[in-house]
Amino acid sequence: MLNILVINSKGGSGKTTLTTNLAGYYASRSFRTAIIDFDPQGSSLHWLQARPDTKPAIHAANGAPAKGNAHLSSRQSWVPLDMEVLIVDAPAGAGGLLLKELVRKANFIVIPVAPSPIDIRATADFIKDLFLVGGARTSNARIAVVANRVRNRSGTAYASLERFLASLKLPFLTALSDSDVYLQSAEDGVGIFEMDEQTGGRERQEFMPIVRWLDGHFPNRFGVRAEDKQAILEGSRKWAAFRPGNATGRFPAFRPAAGK
Ligand SMILES: Nc1ncnc2c1ncn2[C@@H]1O[C@H](COP(=O)(O)OP(=O)(O)OP(=O)(O)O)[C@@H](O)[C@H]1O
Ligand SMILES: [Mg+2]
Repeated sequence: MLNILVINSKGGSGKTTLTTNLAGYYASRSFRTAIIDFDPQGSSLHWLQARPDTKPAIHAANGAPAKGNAHLSSRQSWVPLDMEVLIVDAPAGAGGLLLKELVRKANFIVIPVAPSPIDIRATADFIKDLFLVGGARTSNARIAVVANRVRNRSGTAYASLERFLASLKLPFLTALSDSDVYLQSAEDGVGIFEMDEQTGGRERQEFMPIVRWLDGHFPNRFGVRAEDKQAILEGSRKWAAFRPGNATGRFPAFRPAAGK
């Protein structure tokens, strides 16, 4: 079973949006697909509840901590062994043992991040935790980043995000636009790959590099190389510690990670 972990401890970065659309992609291509939602808010599970019967089934599992009924929760968190693809929707703020466990099981780790100074700093902090606490430094999981809710590709925030990812040598797969199509998808329980042809064309095109990466079509961008992991850790420490010295809150032109 292919295990794809979608994670960023920063809330609202796009974890559920990526999870549901990846699940819709695989289900629509006849893969036996499951989502396990570790977020107590259960947004992915709500999406599955809204999903029309006419669309291919996606198995729903609830990984969130039990609310008073441990027995019920353990039954709901079951994922059938014959599933081919499992997408894991991590909760905001995932850390400690949960983070370790999620990373241990993952084949691929996708990190969505919005292009804003606050999100970049929080994501740098998260990547540090992912490597140090989560054990990503020694795991075989392939890691990559996706920019999400991008409005202006020539803006300073987007340039900062590009510099941040380049300095970390983290594979940067694609930028997903801020688009109402994702809001429609969230409401209808239908992924962007399952909509009629007239809707979501640009969104599908932007999303494709993610599924190609997962399919192994990007040999040169096949996740983080072992020899780059130390530089990523050092770079993420730097970006996490950075405090803007001026009122603009902007990142300065940033030098590459230490030693690069
Ligand atoms: N590319 C996008 N364009 C427009 N809206 C988006 C996009 N990505 C996400 N959103 C919307 O932004 C909100 C937050 O996204 P989402 O729920 O995917 O983030 P999350 O990381 O799962 O959040 P949380 O940390 O709370 O679980 C949702 O309302 C979602 O529909
Ligand atoms: Mg979510």
